[in-house]
Amino acid sequence: MVLFLKNKIVVVAVLLATVLLLAQCSNNEKQAGEKAVTAEASCEKKPLNPNGDSELALLMRNMMSSSQSLKEKIKQGNLPETFPEEFLKIHTALPTDSETKKESFEGFANSYISNLQALYHSPKEDLSKNYNAVISACASCHSEHCPGPLGAINKLKI
Ligand code: HEC
Repeated sequence: MVLFLKNKIVVVAVLLATVLLLAQCSNNEKQAGEKAVTAEASCEKKPLNPNGDSELALLMRNMMSSSQSLKEKIKQGNLPETFPEEFLKIHTALPTDSETKKESFEGFANSYISNLQALYHSPKEDLSKNYNAVISACASCHSEHCPGPLGAINKLKI
């Protein structure tokens, strides 16, 4: 009887240890997942630049909020107002990390700017189509240069 009890205690102890181990593992996984989400907010894996946000990152944030209000205007069938000249700075704005702008950056930047110009010259019935082409140009560059914000960018489509 005593032996039986002892065995039972061992079994319970092993079970408990297993449960604790499993809980610990899933906790670690969850933490890793949370870290990945934080890193996704920008394309930087490191914490934000200690010297402040880069010129390019600030410009991008501006492009993001401008696209959000553009989307609402276009959904109501309104033509955008004046062309946002400041976005031409995409060519010269300095990134957080000098290696961020790879060789293909200029091509993607040109495609974004020319799609944006086409949008500002488009007839009313093509507004949504031309707006979506601009957002695709954002997404193309991002899939190569900075995949973090891709989810948010794709949500900008009409
Ligand atoms: C030619 C390439 C290119 C195009 C086009 C482009 N991006 Fe970016 N984007 C980048 C790069 C590179 C960064 C990283 C900047 C840095 O870390 O300095 C970035 C960063 C961002 C960020 C994160 C900014 C932050 O807070 O760190 C957002 C959001 C963003 N872009 C949205 C957009 C949107 C919206 C568009 C289109 C309207 C767009 N991007 C078009 C290359 C591009």
